[in-house]
Amino acid sequence: MEDFQKKFDIIGKSRVIKDLIDITMQIAKSDISVLIYGESGVGKEIFAQAIHGYSNREKKNLVSVNCGAIPEGILESELFGHKKGSFTGAVEDRKGYFEIANGGTLFLDEIAEMPLTTQVKLLRILETKDFMRLGSENITKVDVRIIAATNKDLQKEVDAKRFRHDLYFRLKAVTLFVPPLRERKEDIPLLVDKFLKEYAERNKIQTLDIDTSAMEYILKYSWPGNIRELKNTIETACALTRDGMLSEEILKNLITIKQEEAPLNLPVHLNRSTETLDREMIYYALIELKKDLVELKDIIKESKEGDKNIDINHVEPLEKMEKEAIVKALDITKGNKKSAANLLEISERTLYRKIKNYGII
Ligand SMILES: Nc1ncnc2c1ncn2[C@@H]1O[C@H](COP(=O)(O)OP(=O)(O)O)[C@@H](O)[C@H]1O
Ligand SMILES: [Mg+2]
Repeated sequence: MEDFQKKFDIIGKSRVIKDLIDITMQIAKSDISVLIYGESGVGKEIFAQAIHGYSNREKKNLVSVNCGAIPEGILESELFGHKKGSFTGAVEDRKGYFEIANGGTLFLDEIAEMPLTTQVKLLRILETKDFMRLGSENITKVDVRIIAATNKDLQKEVDAKRFRHDLYFRLKAVTLFVPPLRERKEDIPLLVDKFLKEYAERNKIQTLDIDTSAMEYILKYSWPGNIRELKNTIETACALTRDGMLSEEILKNLITIKQEEAPLNLPVHLNRSTETLDREMIYYALIELKKDLVELKDIIKESKEGDKNIDINHVEPLEKMEKEAIVKALDITKGNKKSAANLLEISERTLYRKIKNYGII
């Protein structure tokens, strides 16, 4: 296990990480699909790399695709490739990631963001091991192992009909959960050490040190952005340090600054990564836009209905209007024909005749 950790640069001595590495080593050699869960920055990609690197596919490609970052319209052509002329801009035949990853592994990051139509195609590939490039009728065979990752609860996405149930079942054959850093704080000193060394190597300087109070402060913080945030923080702290020793003061500034940077005027949940907050902000903006759209639609609908009531080209038949006037008059006078005739300014006899003609009871 130590060799494995060393080879793939996975730092950690906590029980949870050790257990996770254990399972990873066990399942790496098979071709089974793997679903990796975990918050942003916990190391999902590092585990995907380890699975591929420890498998028999190691010599072939590991292709990483972030399903959330590629625009919907482009994702399918990126994944499956396309034939020349299959859409505007397809100026030549192009291999998709599936073909590039043939014999190897395809890492589908942020799988929850994959559009439903693409999910159908992915499921087909998983079942038949073949597919067609966009615009092509030739079937291409591929042998690709799928590793998918997400920070969303896929069961919830399935319940909300945003994710296909059958695909979910296919993907979750093996599920790995990479725990957030705050739940394995005993790994923090090791990680800090590693990041300090890396910084020194990269900048060709002597490795910096960290004092006890600074380390205590780091251990107290909840690291919403997980290892990625820790790594960035240590690097910035190194750059700001003058005397070769990372102090509590430097760190306090860095970590507090990050929290103050969170957007104002919006519900701010500390404990969440800035990435999540950014995404939420976009989400809120979209919801607001959608509300505006619905309102606009209502306004248009109302005005259309209004138009109908004052349609200047519409004329009611005279007979209909007469009948309606009689019914109304009888209604008002509670059936008293004499009063009704008065209201209508006709004789009582004429009223009787019209009642009979129109069949008004
Ligand atoms: N156990 C670990 N040991 C060392 N570095 C790690 C570990 N886990 C994550 N990292 C580093 O943290 C950063 C974020 O990891 P990544 O795998 O991209 O996270 P995720 O895909 O979950 O967002 C990367 O730079 C990665 O190398
Ligand atoms: Mg990632």
